[in-house]
Amino acid sequence: MGKSNYYNNIAPIYDQTRWMTESVAEEVADFIIALVDANPKTSFLEPGVGTGLNVLPLVRRGYSVTGIDISQEMLNQFSQKLHKIPQNLKLIQTDASQLPFSDASFDVVLTVHMVHTVSNWKAFLDEIDRVLKPRGFYLNAQWITPPARMEFERYFRAILAKYEGVQISQRNNAVIEEINVEDYFHGKGYCSNYVIAKKWMVSNTVDQLIGFFKSRAYGLCWRVSDEIFYRIMEEFEEFCADHYGSLATELSSEAKFEIWVYTAS
Ligand SMILES: C[S@@+](CC[C@H](N)C(=O)[O-])C[C@H]1O[C@@H](n2cnc3c(N)ncnc32)[C@H](O)[C@@H]1O
Repeated sequence: MGKSNYYNNIAPIYDQTRWMTESVAEEVADFIIALVDANPKTSFLEPGVGTGLNVLPLVRRGYSVTGIDISQEMLNQFSQKLHKIPQNLKLIQTDASQLPFSDASFDVVLTVHMVHTVSNWKAFLDEIDRVLKPRGFYLNAQWITPPARMEFERYFRAILAKYEGVQISQRNNAVIEEINVEDYFHGKGYCSNYVIAKKWMVSNTVDQLIGFFKSRAYGLCWRVSDEIFYRIMEEFEEFCADHYGSLATELSSEAKFEIWVYTAS
């Protein structure tokens, strides 16, 4: 299944199966505004904007925001959060590796959980460099998965790996080029700085997390056929009941919103 299809499929359940909340997004927006010393004319671009979780607070504060995404369904979810699309927001369905903007168009380009999803990532980073204004900011961010959820996912992956068999050995033969955003931008003369915009606690019951996996909310759930996925979930649910003692067990741990800040020197 291609990337855009996968996100089209999960768009309606994207927000509820992630761990970013509106109030966290508000605080992160304040942090970003201070970080880039934004003024009312500052323009933001988020390629892979998805359902708008990260930039909605910037839109509400009146900043000029452009969001692009390859998935129309993700953009539709974003639009549905607004009574009507305000003048300071533009949403465009397009591929991030060919941005439909002139050179030096934006003061800030923000990507969140994004670069790794673009197959032609070098072309994408070239595009970010091209559309950024001189002395602009590129913010490469992610909300780091809370450790308890990371561990939960590891258990799922272990069972998935048993069933993937042939598919895994095929993948191992492929040459996968590592994505190194930092090297790329340093090579272009940018300076970088790492900051954590926000830390917050995330809690879910085991049962809830199993429900998220059952709804195939994550890319790794699409790597096998429906029939195999059903068998994996049966085995995983049994494992969880045994390992966590009860499906009602609450898993709590800390998430972080991290940002690599790139500025042209
Ligand atoms: C993991 S989601 C992140 C969404 C949003 N940035 C967030 O933090 O919630 C990745 C997003 O990138 C989009 N995407 C993936 N490849 C893309 C591409 N080549 N061009 C544009 N968007 C792309 C997907 O459709 C999806 O909405």
